[in-house]
Amino acid sequence: MEQGIRLSARHAETEISVGENLSSGLKNLDPRPVLLVDEKVMSLHGQHFDSFPVVPIPSGEQYKTIQTVEQIHRELVRLETDRSSLLVGVGGGVTTDVAGFVASTYMRGVRFGFIASTLLGQVDASIGGKNGVNLDGYKNMVGVIRQPAFVWCDLSLLTTLARREYVAGIAEVIKYGAIRSREFLNFLGDHMEGVRSLDMDVLKAVVTRCVSIKADIVQQDEFESGIRRLLNFGHTLGHAIERDRKILHGEAVAMGMVLAARLSHTLGQLGAESVSILERILADAGLPVEPEMDPDRIYDHIRKDKKKSGAQIHFVLLDDLGSAFVRKIPLTELKKMLHDLC
Ligand SMILES: NC(=O)c1ccc[n+]([C@@H]2O[C@H](COP(=O)([O-])OP(=O)(O)OC[C@H]3O[C@@H](n4cnc5c(N)ncnc54)[C@H](O)[C@@H]3O)[C@@H](O)[C@H]2O)c1
Ligand SMILES: [Zn+2]
Repeated sequence: MEQGIRLSARHAETEISVGENLSSGLKNLDPRPVLLVDEKVMSLHGQHFDSFPVVPIPSGEQYKTIQTVEQIHRELVRLETDRSSLLVGVGGGVTTDVAGFVASTYMRGVRFGFIASTLLGQVDASIGGKNGVNLDGYKNMVGVIRQPAFVWCDLSLLTTLARREYVAGIAEVIKYGAIRSREFLNFLGDHMEGVRSLDMDVLKAVVTRCVSIKADIVQQDEFESGIRRLLNFGHTLGHAIERDRKILHGEAVAMGMVLAARLSHTLGQLGAESVSILERILADAGLPVEPEMDPDRIYDHIRKDKKKSGAQIHFVLLDDLGSAFVRKIPLTELKKMLHDLC
């Protein structure tokens, strides 16, 4: 087995592995797992999974719902899954979010693990125990925080991922460098070609580093009252852009990071050269860096999202490459800033 990264949370430990062909390790699990597999992953990589009981999960964000959870619960009853069973979610972030929620609620909770099959899933969604579904178009409205027993980041699965999905995942990779490690950001700057071409040695180093950074942050702040908020760098504006433009999450986060970096500069926290370096790395990855947006519409999305949590937002800024902090910004001030930035 590959060398593991351990995430020690309050109630559970997660063993995280990064490497090629990890899915072949399923046969060594005890008890024999019941798999919840993304339909597309099943059709592309079924040979690793078809000797186990499989519950297919429909592919796509629109199926990340309580109805899908209910259907899977029923299927688990039919398969006579019980409290001693082991469930393994196999897929991207949609599948692992759903599978983790199913496993956390079925019979009040059964053991579960993940095989993450997208870059975003491997470096972000599968790590940290946030499981849940959307409700009436609101993202992740219903869910729990519960850590999986293990996560396998199987790099071999990434070879079939759509190019655009893969590149979007690189945005989250760059995010870790931006908020936590200048040296990792430099590494990405030097090895972006290897990342883009799925050079397995480079990819293993990169995914391992991202997972370690996320595990470290989650360990310190599992329930997001402090440092875990830094992971939202680029996301406040990114989410609003994503809603407005119907582009991929990672593409919107790339633009959101550019704006957050420029804002950090405007506020006198970050040098202009650092902003350019971040923009160049994002562009080299093939991500969009020029946020074409209407500041009023973006502001409107943010305001609607924040209605419940008051007149201020926690905005993640940089005071250096590799170093982030949170500042509370009143919504009214943000509106003015958006106009200045666009
Ligand atoms: N829990 C968390 O902490 C957390 C963090 C970030 C994101 N998320 C969630 O993750 C979701 C996004 O995840 P995603 O980007 O992985 O999306 P996804 O799960 O929808 O996968 C993207 C697409 O790729 C396909 N796919 C998956 N693996 C493949 C493979 N190996 N080869 C070919 N196709 C493959 C899927 O069928 C889907 O069409 C969102 O719902 C988001 O809310 C959760
Ligand atoms: Zn994200």
